[in-house]
Amino acid sequence: MNKILVVGSMNMDYTIYCEKFPLDGETIYGKKRIVQPGGKGANQAAAAAKSRLAPITFIGARGDDHDGKTIENLLKNLGIAAFLKVCPDLETGNATIDVSDSGENKIIIIAGSNGNLLPSDISEDIIKEHEYIVLQNEIPQSTNARVMELAHKYNKKVVYNPAPYRPIDKNVFQYVDYLAVNEVELMRYSGAEGIKEGADVLLNEGVKHLIITLGSDGSMYKSKNEEFSIKAHKVKAVDTVAAGDTYI
Ligand code: RIB
Repeated sequence: MNKILVVGSMNMDYTIYCEKFPLDGETIYGKKRIVQPGGKGANQAAAAAKSRLAPITFIGARGDDHDGKTIENLLKNLGIAAFLKVCPDLETGNATIDVSDSGENKIIIIAGSNGNLLPSDISEDIIKEHEYIVLQNEIPQSTNARVMELAHKYNKKVVYNPAPYRPIDKNVFQYVDYLAVNEVELMRYSGAEGIKEGADVLLNEGVKHLIITLGSDGSMYKSKNEEFSIKAHKVKAVDTVAAGDTYI
């Protein structure tokens, strides 16, 4: 069976639900606050584990604190083989999330220990044991680059979800098998203003398989030779936080 390795972030999410977002300088009452594990890497690992289609391994970094221990326990309870670097001097990564009644969200992340997952923390042996390696943009890019390089060396498939957006060296695309972006990320990485044009830019820059998530419009796949779309199920959006992570 193909084993999947997710290398990425783990956060504690502090989420406040409110009717509408406050304006700049405004104070409003929220409806409720929940605290729950998140982080794009951990979310992707958790969703993959819940699908029960493959054994999942997660590599991340946590602080020596309650949040870090809570997330580690949750990952292990989901059956994920979690290899976590413990960083005694750093807090576990966290996110402050606001969700409005219309289902929109605003997220601010504090990297904390995620920023201390370094290239030297990635063992070649773990890369060798997995078929698919999943990466995002909430750990240092030098660590992503190291994982891609090792994955390439051992002929493994890389799924890269470069979210949130940050400027990256486009040379990494040659090491990526599946690049998964949303519409905003597509425009920012390609510099284009339309989906088709943006997709062509990235394919010309070396992306082999491009996946574009389009929210309620579903998603599309494009390579040099093939293109197709998949519709989304129609639902009333209540909270879309981590919807993209679950899709990955
Ligand atoms: O994609 C949603 C995630 O982004 C949240 O869980 C938050 O922690 C941030 O990483």
